[in-house]
Amino acid sequence: MKKLVVTIDGPAGSGKSTTARFVAARLGYTYLDTGAMYRAMTVKALRNGIDPGNEHLLAEMARRTDITVETHPDGTRVFTDGEDVTDRLRGADVTRASSPVSAVKAVRERMVELQRRVGAAGGIVAEGRDMGSVVFPDADVKVYLEAGLGCRAERRKKELEAAGMPVDLDRVRNDIRARDVFDSSREHSPLVVPEGAVVIDTTDLTIEEQVTGVLDEVRKKTGART
Ligand code: DC
Repeated sequence: MKKLVVTIDGPAGSGKSTTARFVAARLGYTYLDTGAMYRAMTVKALRNGIDPGNEHLLAEMARRTDITVETHPDGTRVFTDGEDVTDRLRGADVTRASSPVSAVKAVRERMVELQRRVGAAGGIVAEGRDMGSVVFPDADVKVYLEAGLGCRAERRKKELEAAGMPVDLDRVRNDIRARDVFDSSREHSPLVVPEGAVVIDTTDLTIEEQVTGVLDEVRKKTGART
């Protein structure tokens, strides 16, 4: 059977990562976490002392940087120029700086190139902010997940706590709101509902229901059981 390209876009905390991971596992497809790729680029920028607002230096750095992603049974590992930076990706400093870094045109151009390379053969579930709109506009299945701000903040808080990073709920809510505004209003590839995407509100859904919702869309395309 033809291997599809499935895209899942949406704002922070909408359930993209968890849903995409499970859907990919169910289909036997590659899971591509593109937010992690932008975060990996951000780790390098911070490490090199580059201000996240310095477009010129970020553009230069991005053109010389290789980001690769490996999927393992226990999760995804992300490499910047061959170095495993996975354990740094979820830090609050990286989260905050990832928005301005990802707004830089040359950073996005480099990422799109790397992401299309991974998706070229199909059999991929790609998750991010511009998967269905820019990177894979001809994707077979496009999904946009959304959820209320309060619910998204609660989810992110739980995730961070589970990773040993306790946080204040108000702070998480404010950070998410700020990133939403930034990611949706930037000039290059802003977060939008891609043309042809099915919108699923995950506020009151369990993870299993979210996964089933996406698999239903895949099934409609293939006419097969998944
Ligand atoms: O999904 P995330 O929180 O890991 O994403 C981190 C940042 O990367 C987010 O603020 C916006 C950016 N991003 C993007 O611009 N385009 C993508 N396809 C994925 C993430």
